[in-house]
Amino acid sequence: MPDHPLYQQLDELAKAVDTIALADEAELAELRTQLLGRKSGKLTHILRGLRDLDSDARRDVGQRANRLKQQIEAAIAAREEALAVPRMTASDVDLSMAGRRQWQGAIHPVTAVVDEICDIFREIGFTRVTGPEAETEEYNFVKLNIPLDHPAADEHDTFFLDGQAKQPCGEWKAPGRLLLRTHTSPMQARTMERYQPPIRIVVPGQAYRRDPFDPSHSPAFEQIEGLVVDDGVSFVDFKAGIDFFVKRFFSPETEVRFRPSFFPFTEPSAEVDVQCQLCRGSGCSTCKQTGFLEIMGAGMVHPAVFERCGIDAERYTGYAFGMGPHRITMLRHGIPDIRMLYLNDMRFLGQFAL
Ligand code: PHE
Repeated sequence: MPDHPLYQQLDELAKAVDTIALADEAELAELRTQLLGRKSGKLTHILRGLRDLDSDARRDVGQRANRLKQQIEAAIAAREEALAVPRMTASDVDLSMAGRRQWQGAIHPVTAVVDEICDIFREIGFTRVTGPEAETEEYNFVKLNIPLDHPAADEHDTFFLDGQAKQPCGEWKAPGRLLLRTHTSPMQARTMERYQPPIRIVVPGQAYRRDPFDPSHSPAFEQIEGLVVDDGVSFVDFKAGIDFFVKRFFSPETEVRFRPSFFPFTEPSAEVDVQCQLCRGSGCSTCKQTGFLEIMGAGMVHPAVFERCGIDAERYTGYAFGMGPHRITMLRHGIPDIRMLYLNDMRFLGQFAL
């Protein structure tokens, strides 16, 4: 007999349950009488009506009414408890108290140095590009004039990856045996293959070597490669480019020193030293009393590299360099151990937050 008026009253009662959760103290007292009151409560009214029903309907309505009664009682008890919790008022809050700043994260000091270096080179016309970390022997060694049986190829102590690259690495084609690049120099070859001069690029990115993780080495480290190729680029342009960068990044007084060196892909090659930033050149333990610290390898691009990468070696000349932003960051901030830059300890990194 679901159309009996008692069912309608049950429905109304069910709707009232929801209003309990929003009631304030006075409303709650009111609701309690309205719903459960002995004399004229809605539930009482329904229970009284039971005697007019036949036995089946009586059982059904009776059960529903009892369930509702329990729900109402539980809702009232829950609301009472919620209202009993003391609420904060305006006078409980000291509005004049200084706010506490939330730590929002910041740029890692090495990332900041990478960005700063790339920005300095951008001022003199360099474009920032990136390339794949999973490289092939071809690009990491062969095209850079490093034959695979040359000691330089295993001097690098390479991490080889299993298998061959049959697919392009991202946007770059990469057929051949795969490895983790041991320097960012493969991007010299990739850029020259794709673009004709004039070329002026800087390439920041990770490189990998089988080195121990000790105060001055990490098996994964940042590098920034630089490459310039154009008509008539001379050794003077090379020195001037590097000198401009060092004076801009460190200070106008910082001295730069070029020491003869060897790389298969540059000729002549040099290692570039800058005046030690800690002792200002007078000699200390960081620079081993020499007053200078090495910051990059560099040189004039070897004609054999041009030939392997499709650039006319008779017409064009250029220079290249590769530096380590971790070392440069350590030098700038006087950080004694490279591992501090990998630990992600906020107490350490927080000091460099801008
Ligand atoms: N690729 C060299 C290294 O990782 C650095 C370098 C780059 C030297 C470009 C000369 C020219 O040690």
